[in-house]
Amino acid sequence: MPIHAVVYASHVAAELPAERLDALVQDAARFNVIAGVTGLLLFDGERFLQYLEGPDDGLRAAYGRVLIASSHFDIVQLARGLIGSRLAPYWSMTMVGTPRRDLGTIAVADWNSFVRRGSSVKPTAMDHLVRIMDRHRQDECRAG
Ligand SMILES: Cc1cc2nc3c(=O)[nH]c(=O)nc-3n(C[C@H](O)[C@H](O)[C@H](O)COP(=O)(O)O)c2cc1C
Repeated sequence: MPIHAVVYASHVAAELPAERLDALVQDAARFNVIAGVTGLLLFDGERFLQYLEGPDDGLRAAYGRVLIASSHFDIVQLARGLIGSRLAPYWSMTMVGTPRRDLGTIAVADWNSFVRRGSSVKPTAMDHLVRIMDRHRQDECRAG
């Protein structure tokens, strides 16, 4: 089954207490399980950057919910297209606290066709994202 992916960045709505943010992520994860969608949500306290992957119909449904959510605004789609295989199969949705500078770097990096260069010299956006995924996965495994 072809796997599609989408990435966007957005700004958090002014009033979003931690409990509401947790509830939002849990709600997202519940829907994503049904839709066959996996991915992660980076958050720096001000901005989101979310990576979603899954079958075309499921991804459309989940992303549709994202686009109408009032908890954020100024949604900018950074990339959308087919990817070879899932990069984040472990997470129906997980939120990763990300330093402001790192999120900014990823948002403006090269998202062209989800290319990964695998080099630390001129990393693409996907290189940055995969590094964050690897680190998050290691932290989770360490925490048990
Ligand atoms: C930053 C962000 C990420 C979200 N991610 C997903 C998602 O991955 N899948 C999904 O089905 N809904 C997602 N949603 C929708 C939320 O789970 C929730 O249904 C929605 O935020 C509730 O509406 P409200 O923001 O207007 O209160 C997301 C919403 C936001 C703001």
